[in-house]
Amino acid sequence: MTALDLSSPVAVVGTGTMGQGIAQVALVAGHPVRLYDAVPGRARDAAEAIGGRLDRLVDKGRIAAADRDAARARLRPADGLAELADCALVVEAVLERLDVKQRLLGELEEIVAEDCLLATNTSSLSVTAIGGPLRHPGRFVGLHFFNPAPLLPLVEVVSGFATDVTSATRAYETARAWGKTPVACADTPGFIVNRIARPFYAEAFAVHEAQAADPATVDAVLRECGGFRMGAFELTDLIGQDVNESVTHSVWQSFFQDVRFTPSLAQRRLVESGRLGRKSGHGWYDYADGADRPEPHTADKEQPPAYVVAEGGLGPAAELLALIREAGIPVREEDEDNGTRLVLPGGGQLVLADGQTSAEFRDVVHFDLALDYRKATRIALSASQDTAPHALAEATGLFQALGKEVSVIGDVPGMIVARTVARIIDLAHDAVAKGVATEEDIDTAMRLGVNYPLGPFEWDRALGSEFAFDVLDEMHERDPSGRYAPSLALYRHAYATDKREGSA
Ligand SMILES: NC(=O)c1ccc[n+]([C@@H]2O[C@H](COP(=O)([O-])OP(=O)(O)OC[C@H]3O[C@@H](n4cnc5c(N)ncnc54)[C@H](O)[C@@H]3O)[C@@H](O)[C@H]2O)c1
Repeated sequence: MTALDLSSPVAVVGTGTMGQGIAQVALVAGHPVRLYDAVPGRARDAAEAIGGRLDRLVDKGRIAAADRDAARARLRPADGLAELADCALVVEAVLERLDVKQRLLGELEEIVAEDCLLATNTSSLSVTAIGGPLRHPGRFVGLHFFNPAPLLPLVEVVSGFATDVTSATRAYETARAWGKTPVACADTPGFIVNRIARPFYAEAFAVHEAQAADPATVDAVLRECGGFRMGAFELTDLIGQDVNESVTHSVWQSFFQDVRFTPSLAQRRLVESGRLGRKSGHGWYDYADGADRPEPHTADKEQPPAYVVAEGGLGPAAELLALIREAGIPVREEDEDNGTRLVLPGGGQLVLADGQTSAEFRDVVHFDLALDYRKATRIALSASQDTAPHALAEATGLFQALGKEVSVIGDVPGMIVARTVARIIDLAHDAVAKGVATEEDIDTAMRLGVNYPLGPFEWDRALGSEFAFDVLDEMHERDPSGRYAPSLALYRHAYATDKREGSA
C-alpha cells in the first residue's frame, strides 16, 4: 500500500491553528489542497495566512519562489463541502466536540467517493467514537499532528476499532511522504504522547504540593540533572495551564478516573484564577515586565570529603565513581551485596533515589537520578529532618567538588527525576502490553512529540530493567493509593530480566 498520489486533492476542514498547519504540510508536499471552514470567509483568510507563511519560507531560503507560486496555485478555499467531492483525503480539524465531528463526517460521507480516506486530527476524543455513525468506518483514521504542524515531525496514526489496515497504512505512508515521522497507535486515551507524558507534569506538581521544592528548583533539576529540555512548570506555562490541564483531565476521565492520571489540585487553582501561563502574563511564574524570575535553591559551598567508600557499585550512577576520582578524591570500592551507597568519612551515606525516604535510615542522604552524571550541572539531594547536618554538608561538598550545583529538596520518595522517569517507563511498558504501540514507536513519539532526551525504553535499558520497578514498588509501599503501583507489564519485565540474568 502506497501513499496518496501527489496529484490527488486533499481537503482540510476547519481552518484554525491545526487545519492551517496540516494544509500547509500537504500543500508543500505537492498536493492540490482545498480548505473549508464553517465560518464564512475563514477558509479564504486561512489561504491568505498560509500564503504569507510560504512567503516567509521563500525569504528564509527554505523554498524556491517558483515552488511557492505553484503551491499557492494549488491552494483553493471552498465555499461548501460539495467542492470537496473529488478529494482523496479529507482531514477534519474542527472544534473538539464529538457531536460536531460526527455530524461533519456524516455530511462528508454523502459527498466524497467511497475510497476517499477520512481522517480526524482529534487529540482527546476517541477515533472509534467519532467514526461510529459512518457507513464505511473502515476508511476513517486518526491523523494526530502536533502544533505547529509544519515544524513538528511527529504524526500519530490512530486506528479505531473499525479502521481497516489498508486505510491506516495509506494514512501512515502518506504522512511519511509528506516528510513527517508517523507512528502507529491504537485508539486509547491520549494515544501515545499525551498518555505517557502525564507523569512529567504530575510528579513535578506533586513534589511541589508536598512542599519538597519550589517550581524554580524542580524545573532546574529536571533540566540540569534530568536532561529534559524544559521543566514541567515553565513548560506548562508555555503550553497554557488550561490546555495542559484539559488534556490531563480528559485522559483521567477517559480512563475512568484511574488514580495514575489524577489531575493536580494546584494546577486547578491556577486555571480557576486565570493564571494560565505566559499568555495571561502569570502562571506558575510571573511574566509581568520587570518581574523577578525566581532562582532555584542552590546550596552554599561546603568542604569536599577527604575520601569516599563505595559499597556495591552505584548501578545507574556508577559513572560517579570515575568523576569522584577525576576530582582527586580517593575512592575505596568494597563489594557489598546489601545495597549500594557511598559512605562518607563523617558517617553520612549517599544513596541513589530509590523510592524510600531518608527518614527511614540513619544519616542517609539521597541523590537524584541524572540522565548523564558527567554532563549534569546540578544534582538534587534530600535528607530528613534528623539526618546529621554534617552528612548533608559532606554530600553537598562532594557534588560541588565534581562541578555540580546542589539543590537540597525535601524528603520525598523518588525525589524529582527518578520518580518522573520511573513512571514514564512504567506507562510505556503498560502501553505496549495493552497494544497501544510498539516500543520503537513509543520511543520515537516521546523524543519527537515532547522532546525527551531519550525514549522511555532507551532510558529503561540504560538504567537497568529493575530501576523503575524498584523505585515504584517502594513508592507504592509508602503511598498505597495506587498512583505508584507498578503495572503488571513492568512487574513482568523486571522479573523476566532478573531471571535471564540468573538472580531469581
Ligand atoms: N491546537 C493544538 O495544539 C492541537 C494539537 C493537536 C490536535 N488538535 C485538535 O485539532 C482540532 C482543531 O484544533 P485547533 O486548535 O486548530 O482549533 P481552532 O479553534 O483553532 O480551529 C477550529 C476551526 O474549525 C472551525 N469549525 C468548527 N466547527 C466546524 C464545522 N462543523 N465545520 C467546519 N469548520 C468548523 C472553526 O470555525 C475554526 O476555524 C481539534 O480537534 C483539536 O483537538 C489541536
